[in-house]
Amino acid sequence: MRMHLESHIKPLMEQFPALGSVLEKAGIGCTSCTLGTCRIQDILEIHDLDTAQIQTLLQEMGEVIYQGAPFQIPPITRKPAAPKATFCPPIQRMVVEHTFILRVIALLPRLIHALRQDFESALPLAIRTLEFVRTYADRYHHAKEEDILFRFFEQGSDILGVMLQDHQDGRAHISAVAAALAARQIEDVEAHLLAYGELLKSHIQREDTILYPWMDRTLTDREVGHLFSQCSAVERDFGTVPAMQERIVTDLELALPGVS
Ligand SMILES: [Fe+2]
Ligand SMILES: [Fe+2]
Repeated sequence: MRMHLESHIKPLMEQFPALGSVLEKAGIGCTSCTLGTCRIQDILEIHDLDTAQIQTLLQEMGEVIYQGAPFQIPPITRKPAAPKATFCPPIQRMVVEHTFILRVIALLPRLIHALRQDFESALPLAIRTLEFVRTYADRYHHAKEEDILFRFFEQGSDILGVMLQDHQDGRAHISAVAAALAARQIEDVEAHLLAYGELLKSHIQREDTILYPWMDRTLTDREVGHLFSQCSAVERDFGTVPAMQERIVTDLELALPGVS
């Protein structure tokens, strides 16, 4: 199995599709990842598996790959980090930002319903929603990730590539929504808003449960200090804008009550 630790998971899964259910059983969602190009040894690290979990996973993967032929599992020992109640302050702040983004994503079906009922009356709400997504989710939150947090880690790594691609795909969906709103093309508005919502929900879930925990336990205290001061500088630059955008979320919730 040692040679396979360097292998990328996607071509290996194409060759041995049964690996998908082995990984899913271990709580590793590679089959749902958009690119799935991580190396196996990175997966073991990022998902914080302990020695016993690694041995079990490699045993089950070996049984699929070697199909009855003998194979050896390399000795890998790793203790998972002790569970922490919260992340370091700058990452914890980004987790809080996710909650505002998720609240707006939860409103998207209601916004679509309102646009279908009366397009012109609901258009200002759609414009405010786009403004929140562009200003808060993208320019503020994603910029903090791309320009600061992610830079503490190996540039060009597969996992960061997947997350950056999600950001790009999200931007493309939002540009398409803006164009469709201008053209009064409700079908396209709906398709791209829903696709954006699904993309961001999955993206945030992976950040909260896999990426951020891995980053949080990998950063040294000194790096956390640098991260904190750089994020604080961005927050100062944005002034009152993030707080204003967070209040807009409540305004949108009041303007878009649940569809009965
Ligand atoms: Fe992100
Ligand atoms: Fe994020």
